[in-house]
Amino acid sequence: MTRVLVTGGTGVLGSELVPRFLDAGYTVRVMSRRGHPPDVDPGIEWAQAELQTGAGLAEAVAGADVIVHAASSPFRRTEAVDVGGTERLLEAARKAGVSHFFYISIVGIDRIPLGYYKRKLAAEARIEQGGVPWSILRATQFHTLIDMQLRALLRFPIGLAPSDFRFQPIDPGELADRVLEYAAGGAAGRLPDLGGPEVRTLGELARTWAEIRGLRRRVIRLPLPGKIAAGFRQGLNTTPEGKYGQGTWADWLRRRYGSGDARSK
Ligand SMILES: NC(=O)c1ccc[n+]([C@@H]2O[C@H](COP(=O)([O-])OP(=O)(O)OC[C@H]3O[C@@H](n4cnc5c(N)ncnc54)[C@H](OP(=O)(O)O)[C@@H]3O)[C@@H](O)[C@H]2O)c1
Repeated sequence: MTRVLVTGGTGVLGSELVPRFLDAGYTVRVMSRRGHPPDVDPGIEWAQAELQTGAGLAEAVAGADVIVHAASSPFRRTEAVDVGGTERLLEAARKAGVSHFFYISIVGIDRIPLGYYKRKLAAEARIEQGGVPWSILRATQFHTLIDMQLRALLRFPIGLAPSDFRFQPIDPGELADRVLEYAAGGAAGRLPDLGGPEVRTLGELARTWAEIRGLRRRVIRLPLPGKIAAGFRQGLNTTPEGKYGQGTWADWLRRRYGSGDARSK
């Protein structure tokens, strides 16, 4: 049976990937910094490892045929975890004879000079030269991320937000479906970029978000200077030609919040 190691298996995408790989008949091993939780499905193998130091990586990778590398640390120690950690994971994978290293990346990282994106680009370069057969799939922002951002920006009835930024949010479950299909096909190099079914401004996404949650929100456009903001305004983080899936933002919000007032959720 093919064994897949999912780094970041406890995260948003990882927790969508794990049940799908199990259902498809893979032996699944989750990698996490945490110890084995007592309530985890006994059919799942667990590996405790830390990308920043490399502790536990050799054990995590031992016996794996495929690694889906979905662990990331966007807000802290990003260089050490995302770049250094990817190097360490690659080295362990090379030694263990892993046949497919599958990396989840982000659309537009080569076009928008955000610090996090520079690290993802550096990680991609390490993978391309890492000596392990690889695939890289760049995806657009997940619905969960846009929701988290709007929750922070629109906590109060009037909120400032860069409402002219463009996004093409994707359902992480649908992305996981696609990763599963690609993983089964073997190492394929850089795959076509993948985005959700619609490109929308943050202002439009915010309106739908407030409507479905039954909240009154007024968004005042926050004019942000610089190349990063210009990139998001131009939608350099989107891939109109890579539209995928049926899971619109409104569908996802209705599932997440129901159709009534969900202020408390
Ligand atoms: N979110 C988006 O909108 C989006 C869009 C496009 C692409 N992506 C990419 O998709 C991937 C998954 O994103 P996500 O949103 O699902 O991530 P997430 O929910 O933030 O989960 C990140 C995972 O990384 C693990 N992790 C963090 N630091 C670690 C460390 N030092 N050592 C080992 N594991 C560590 C965490 O596991 P533990 O806490 O269990 O250790 C966690 O499960 C990332 O590479 C991201 O760049 C995300």
